[in-house]
Amino acid sequence: KDNRIQIAIDGPASSGKSTIAKLLADKYHLVYVDTGAMYRTLTYLALKNNINIDNERDLTALLKEIKITFKRKQDGQDVFANGENITDKIRQHNVTNNVSIVSSFPKVREELVRRQQALAEKSDVVMDGRDIGTVVLPNADVKIFLIASVEERAERRYLENQQKGIETDFARLKEEIVARDEYDSNRKESPLKQAEDAICVDTTGLSISEVVNKCMELINKKIKN
Ligand code: CDP
Ligand code: CDP
Repeated sequence: KDNRIQIAIDGPASSGKSTIAKLLADKYHLVYVDTGAMYRTLTYLALKNNINIDNERDLTALLKEIKITFKRKQDGQDVFANGENITDKIRQHNVTNNVSIVSSFPKVREELVRRQQALAEKSDVVMDGRDIGTVVLPNADVKIFLIASVEERAERRYLENQQKGIETDFARLKEEIVARDEYDSNRKESPLKQAEDAICVDTTGLSISEVVNKCMELINKKIKN
């Protein structure tokens, strides 16, 4: 690693990674790289094109055809696949429930990790995902592992859906979060895991600004001197 700034944020589903990463990106003038959105984009396009999501070779071939780009906007970030804005489409329920399978394939990960590392070579970044501190940016300046109780994470997602006008069954939402975490944690290839040198921040009961402040304390300690 040269003199680029790298902040890695990992953790289970709905622990607040992207919310916190975006705010940290603003505070420190970093580029926010949402790696989950990259796995979601491939999943969305595979489903849309009727490509078998159990076939590693077909998925990898499709991925080679997809250029994924991010664009900052006032309140977050848009995601584009070959120029098409797919920001909302990749959050759909069927994408969420299939993304863990797609992201379990070594060849898919190899290609996306390569792209993620290329982004981190070009800019100072805050990157969030599951394997950022362990695999993508092993030499990151700061590694944060965000957690919260399952109950609270499900409540956060539930509220978010409510605000978007999406009706959800709370019990089912919670089950799906647990199932995805389990799948992500138990896969062979780059599982969801706290890096040895990561700092765990338990956000249960904390507000967004409390979490941001905690993270900034950790970052300032590591980067400013
Ligand atoms: O926002 P949420 O926590 O629901 O998920 P996400 O960050 O958008 O990631 C969606 C899925 O992509 C995860 O459940 C993982 O299966 C996969 N993923 C991964 O394997 N590695 C990453 N670095 C990021 C996401
Ligand atoms: O990226 P990840 O799936 O880890 O989480 P997210 O997409 O940032 O979603 C977290 C949700 O919980 C958002 O609706 C946030 O507004 C909310 N939230 C949070 O992120 N952090 C807190 N301390 C409290 C609530």
